[in-house]
Amino acid sequence: MENSRATEMFEQPAWDERYSGDGKVWSGDPNPQLVAEVSGLEPGTALDVGSGEGGDVIWLARQGWRVTGADFSANGLARAAAHAEAAGVGDHTEWWQVDAREFDADGRTWDLVTTHFLHPPDAGMAAVTARLAAAVAPGGHLLVVGHAPSGRHAQMSESHLRAMFLAADLVPALPEGFEPLVVEQRPRTVSRDGETFEIDDSTLLARRAL
Ligand SMILES: C[S@@+](CC[C@H](N)C(=O)[O-])C[C@H]1O[C@@H](n2cnc3c(N)ncnc32)[C@H](O)[C@@H]1O
Repeated sequence: MENSRATEMFEQPAWDERYSGDGKVWSGDPNPQLVAEVSGLEPGTALDVGSGEGGDVIWLARQGWRVTGADFSANGLARAAAHAEAAGVGDHTEWWQVDAREFDADGRTWDLVTTHFLHPPDAGMAAVTARLAAAVAPGGHLLVVGHAPSGRHAQMSESHLRAMFLAADLVPALPEGFEPLVVEQRPRTVSRDGETFEIDDSTLLARRAL
């Protein structure tokens, strides 16, 4: 049985604290699967859920998308908005404080809905995927990326392992009218603390019919 400290790490106060220090938490570079899948799409409107410090939002805005960055951390959103202003794309972006597990776009839709490494606890990504799919405009795309469990993560807590997923785990959550285009684990080389190793990005890309 895990203590509540492990599960608190997934909640908003922990993320607000993480984003309250001096340094950047993330690199600011766009996520590789976003660049791989979205570079070929015609820019329109995009929603990035779990937008963190705004790296993906800024990249999308630079490609010509009008982007909504959504996150439950007020500190993360404030950082992301400041980074977008500094990058000169503030006028292509808007920000929304929302918990992805209770997300309701109230009928609003976007041409692209994307999320990277959100990892709600207790295998919650399938339910979040269904909510996000409802916000995809007809003819639009849903891109969900996260960590696949692997031997590399063996030392992590039970809660963290349960928050990871395979792309195929999310397919049953897609509403009728969605065609899965990519359902795979993509190897990615990362360098951390002087060590280089491979991890897998679980990648689901689906298109909603017109
Ligand atoms: C691992 S970071 C990834 C940030 C960014 N997508 C990236 O790849 O650089 C996860 C982000 O999701 C946000 N987050 C986690 N759970 C969330 C939830 N239930 N609702 C909304 N945002 C959440 C956190 O505040 C954090 O900014």
